[in-house]
Amino acid sequence: MVGPCTSGQTRYPRYFSRAAGPYLWDLEGKRYVDLNLGYGPVVLGHADGRVTEAVLCELRNGNCIAPLWSRRQSELTDLLVSVVPGAEMAYLLKTGSDATSTAVRLSRIFTGRSKVIRWGYNGWHDWAAGIPAGVPEATRSDTLLFDYSDLGTLRDAFARHPGQVACVLMMPFGDETAPEGHLQKIRDIAHEHGALFVLDEMRSGFRLGLSGAQGLLGVQADVSTFSKAMANGHPISAVVGRADVLSALARTRISSTFYADPAPMAAALTTIRVLRDTDALERIRKAGSAFQDGLSALVDRHRVPARVVGYPPMPFLQFTHPDPVIRERMSTAFAAGAAQRGVLLHPSHQWFLSAAHTSEDVEFALDGCDRALAALEPVLATRPA
Ligand SMILES: Cc1ncc(COP(=O)(O)O)c(C=O)c1O
Repeated sequence: MVGPCTSGQTRYPRYFSRAAGPYLWDLEGKRYVDLNLGYGPVVLGHADGRVTEAVLCELRNGNCIAPLWSRRQSELTDLLVSVVPGAEMAYLLKTGSDATSTAVRLSRIFTGRSKVIRWGYNGWHDWAAGIPAGVPEATRSDTLLFDYSDLGTLRDAFARHPGQVACVLMMPFGDETAPEGHLQKIRDIAHEHGALFVLDEMRSGFRLGLSGAQGLLGVQADVSTFSKAMANGHPISAVVGRADVLSALARTRISSTFYADPAPMAAALTTIRVLRDTDALERIRKAGSAFQDGLSALVDRHRVPARVVGYPPMPFLQFTHPDPVIRERMSTAFAAGAAQRGVLLHPSHQWFLSAAHTSEDVEFALDGCDRALAALEPVLATRPA
C-alpha cells in the first residue's frame, strides 16, 4: 500500500522521536531531511538553540501571568509594526485561525458589513470552514469564495452583494507564484467596493522575506495575519495593520487564557531578530533555488509529467498527468519513495526550506527525489481501476 495517509502498512513515518536543525528522526532512529517543517513554522531549523534558550528563560521566570502582561508583548508588537509594510498596530494571539478570525471580526466592526470574500486555506473556524458539515447555513452564506486566477469571479461576488462585503481575505498565492500586479488588482477591487483587503500571510510571512509577501510583491494590506515562521514553531499568531481598523479591538472582546504567555513571544522576538539581523532568509532562498533547479533537472531527465512550482523558500512538485487518479498516485508514491530514502516531502502541501538546510542536505534531498522519481515508472504504467 502506498501513501502517507493510509492505515496499516505505510512507507511514510508516522511518529518522530527527535528533531534538530533540518533533520527529524523516527522511532526506529532513522534520520530524515525534513522539508515539511511542521507545515511551515520551522524557519531557522528544528529546536534552534537561540529560540529554545529564549523560551526556557521565560518558562523559568513564570509563563502563565494573565491578566498581567509581560514586556515581551510590547517589544514584539513594536517589532512587528517595524517590519510589516504600512503596519501601525499589532495584536498577539495563539493560532493562525485565531488571527484570521480576528481580522474578520475587526473588518466587520470597521465596515459595519457582514460578508467575507475569501480565497485559499484560512483556518478551521466556522466562517472559513472548507467542509460544510457542522456549519450553520447562516454562517456559510456570509462567506463567499472567488477564483484566484479569474478576477471576474471577485467582481461578480461584489456585484451580487452590493454594500455588504466587509473584507476580501486571502492567501497571497497557492503552490504557484503570484502573477505580477495581481494582488494590487485585488486590493483595488476590494477598495472600490468599500471593503478591506486582508492578507493571510500565515505561510509567506517571515519566510519569503522579513516583510512577507507584501514586501516581496509590493502590495500593502489593510490588515495582515501571521503565525507559523514568526516564532520558529512556537504557538503564537498576530494581526497587524492599520490603526483605525485594529482600534476596533476596543469595541469587542477577543482574548483567551494563554494569549498573554511570554514564552512564545520570546520565541517570536528571537526568530524575527535573527531573520532581520543575519543572512538566514537569503540562505533559505539560495537553498530553495538550488533544490528547485536540481529537481527540475531530475523531472526532465526522468521524463515525469510534473513541474516544479513556487517561490524558492516554499517549493512544490506538481504532477501534471491528465488523469487525476494517476496524478494522485504519482504524488503519494513520490512522497513515500522520498521518505524511504530519508527525505520528508508532503504529497499535497507545499514544502519548506529552513536556514539550517545546508547544500549537503539539498544534495541529499535531491538524491532521494532522483530515486523516488525513478521508481515512478510502474505507477505511470498503471491504469486506474
Ligand atoms: C494560509 C493559512 N491560514 C491560516 C491557517 C490556520 O492556522 P492554524 O492552523 O494555526 O489555525 C493556516 C494553517 O495551515 C494557513 O496555512
